[in-house]
Amino acid sequence: MTATVIDGIGLLFTGHEEIQDAALVIEDDRVAWAGPAGQAPEADERHDAGGRCVIPGFVDSHAHLVFAGDRTAEFNARMSGQRYSAGGIRTTVAATRGAGDAELATRAQALVREMLRQGTTTVEIKSGYGLTVEDERRSLEIATGLTDETTYLGAHVVPADADKEEYVRLVTGEMLEACAPYAKWVDAFCEQGAFDGDETREILTKGMKAGLLPRVHANQLTEGPGVRIAVELGAASADHCTHLSDADVDALASSQTVATLLPGAEFSTRSPYPDARRLIDAGATVAIATDCNPGSSFTSSMAFCVALAVREMRMTPLEAVTAATVGGARALRRTDVGSLVPGARADLVVLDAPSYVHLAYRPGVPLVHQVFQAGLLLE
Ligand code: NIG
Ligand code: FE
Repeated sequence: MTATVIDGIGLLFTGHEEIQDAALVIEDDRVAWAGPAGQAPEADERHDAGGRCVIPGFVDSHAHLVFAGDRTAEFNARMSGQRYSAGGIRTTVAATRGAGDAELATRAQALVREMLRQGTTTVEIKSGYGLTVEDERRSLEIATGLTDETTYLGAHVVPADADKEEYVRLVTGEMLEACAPYAKWVDAFCEQGAFDGDETREILTKGMKAGLLPRVHANQLTEGPGVRIAVELGAASADHCTHLSDADVDALASSQTVATLLPGAEFSTRSPYPDARRLIDAGATVAIATDCNPGSSFTSSMAFCVALAVREMRMTPLEAVTAATVGGARALRRTDVGSLVPGARADLVVLDAPSYVHLAYRPGVPLVHQVFQAGLLLE
């Protein structure tokens, strides 16, 4: 076993505490020790962080990376005044169905690489642009080649020309059976124009019976029943949480369900942001993720989402970076990633900055100096 000490860390944010003039020891793929530089144990190798800030690798707990096609024109039209609607998803569905496996895999892999270069060391990937048994199955098979965090989202929208009742039967029957071996999670888009409360509950419950764990696209465009259902079923996360009643906020605060906020979606659809302050002040656990997808949020940058969370959602820089690391891990029910404590996977980012505050203070600036994933320095 080789031990490497990273020293010269001007500021170490472990996910739970801040240590100035710190060091961190990696053994194989794990963090062995973190603390003040003067107390660091001996190691075989040394890596000098040059006074920079080190944070845990970002955990992006919500992304839709398996797709083909292009929706630049839709974005352009939106920025000229058109509204966003769930229906745009069908454009990507048509392109995805028409693409070969190799094209889908290559594109998804390129996005994962793009994320990694920007400090994202754990990413969740959803299906949801296939919407046939075989297209959902192959989307998830491709996703399993890229991450352990795969989500079956056959219930993204009802495909064009399909009967809704029949489609829900497919999603909870044959499609679920084909997809379950490739998925850890089951998700549904609970929204007007997508699936209502009863349908969402049924889709998630059937998914749970097939061994999947629930998470929900909830309350993105309207104040629907998504959050209530997420909490009721013990979902790991309710995602979006843009339109919440007081009862929704209370339900999240008194549950283990993380509120995952996706400010890239509000940015890219020019919509009002979720009220992070209200959730945090009520005691809810908050995560930030990119929602990377070609329709509502085509960004792979967690740093950009942190900047949005601080500037637009009134989170402090510490709250935002915590939500992007520890919060994301909680939303995926993971304790081995998102923080730099002994035993955790050695996923970390060396920032070209003296503090994580710069992620919000210097928006749009590429501040990722180096990335370690499972103890290995990314070339
Ligand atoms: O999370 N809300 C549903 N799904 C995506 C949008 C997908 C699309 O427009 O293609 C989202 O915002
Ligand atoms: Fe999404």
